[in-house]
Amino acid sequence: MTSLLWRIRYLHRRTPTLPARRRQATSAPLHIRVLGEKYTTDDYTNLSPSISSKLSKRLHAQKGHPISTLRTLIENHFPDFAHFSSLSPIVTPYQNFDSLSFPADHPGRAKTDSYYINRNTMLRTHTSAHEVEVFAKGTERWLLTADVYRRDEIDASHYPVFHQMEGAKIFGNDPSSIEQIEKETQRLERQLAASNIVTEDVQHISQTNPAQTSHNVRSSEVTAKNLKLCLNSLLYELFADVAGASEDDPLRVRWIEAYFPFTSPSYEVEVFFRGKWLEILGCGVVLQSTLDRAGVANKMGWAFGLGLERIAMILFSIPDIRLFWSEDPRFLSQFTHGKINTFKPYSKYPPSYRDISFWKPGRDMHDNDLYDVVRDVAGDLVEDVTIIDRFTHPKTQRDSLTARVVYRSFDRSLVNEEVNGLQDRVVSHLKEQLGVEIR
Ligand code: DAH
Repeated sequence: MTSLLWRIRYLHRRTPTLPARRRQATSAPLHIRVLGEKYTTDDYTNLSPSISSKLSKRLHAQKGHPISTLRTLIENHFPDFAHFSSLSPIVTPYQNFDSLSFPADHPGRAKTDSYYINRNTMLRTHTSAHEVEVFAKGTERWLLTADVYRRDEIDASHYPVFHQMEGAKIFGNDPSSIEQIEKETQRLERQLAASNIVTEDVQHISQTNPAQTSHNVRSSEVTAKNLKLCLNSLLYELFADVAGASEDDPLRVRWIEAYFPFTSPSYEVEVFFRGKWLEILGCGVVLQSTLDRAGVANKMGWAFGLGLERIAMILFSIPDIRLFWSEDPRFLSQFTHGKINTFKPYSKYPPSYRDISFWKPGRDMHDNDLYDVVRDVAGDLVEDVTIIDRFTHPKTQRDSLTARVVYRSFDRSLVNEEVNGLQDRVVSHLKEQLGVEIR
């Protein structure tokens, strides 16, 4: 889910996604207001009301909320790091992509994947968007927590808004600073040797995961090793208890070679939990061009990014990502700031299914357009949308799609009339906004 889904897309998506539907010139407003500011709209504008309504929530700053507690636990683990948590979610594509050396044709830039206010303004899709500005302040060790936004599918572990934490450490690229980092690494190594953790490591540097040309190989190795130990020690602190780590059954952490446009070498880290490997974070040695842009060309270092919901769902046993947004006291009152406890599900009301089949309007409709329409109508009453059938008519070449929508509330039973009403509105919005033809 969340942060690492992108990597998977980088690697596996061969064809660029189709552009989102063209905005209907007649109905679209010329300006929109986002977080109190007025913006001119254009053919990139795709920010929907259900997403805008999330911009001011800042769950990571709500004391007692599991996302905020997890943030505090991680901040406490890195006592000498500066903390940032109030940077605006509205950024430029330059900040989100170019400042991190994303190629011009990267699929993450598509408006089918990201929320744009207009061509020059978007919602950050990851906390890495702030790397250059934070490094530019001269901060060498920092953590940054923020809400991030991505157009995505609908199910129990995907939500178009989620929270990430970015961490970074940079230091002088000179022999004495590097030696200092080695000493820190050795200290961590000794601590972890006495803990119940087993790591499956990967070479720091390989032909497919190289050191950068501007780094000497040894400094790059020292940096990567320090990164690995700092994160192993964080993961041990977060997961050892909940995974029941013991001498006989230690916590298992696995390092895998990865690719990100803004690090080299790059890695992904997984934790073994209840019989499965879970992707937890992405990280690597920061691309020198990022540091050059920030005006700290004489430094080098590492960065990581992790998704807070995914980890919080494990630590607090929260079964559905929508619950984080609940304002129901039966959810919120179960938590105390700074403490991890097991969430006790309050009554689970029955789901209602509705199928919908339609002809797509032409080539310019993306599945994410469907998901945004359903969310705008049903909000958090929608639990899941699954595309259960697709075909192309052999004669007319028109594309047909059938989706199954699951409606369910956490707080009450939905009666049939309400679900029918929601479904009717989904259908009319699909017709009006996307131009589909219901079958
Ligand atoms: N920004 C990446 C994402 O959202 C995660 C990430 C990968 C952050 C590598 C980093 C990094 O700082 O070095 O998927």
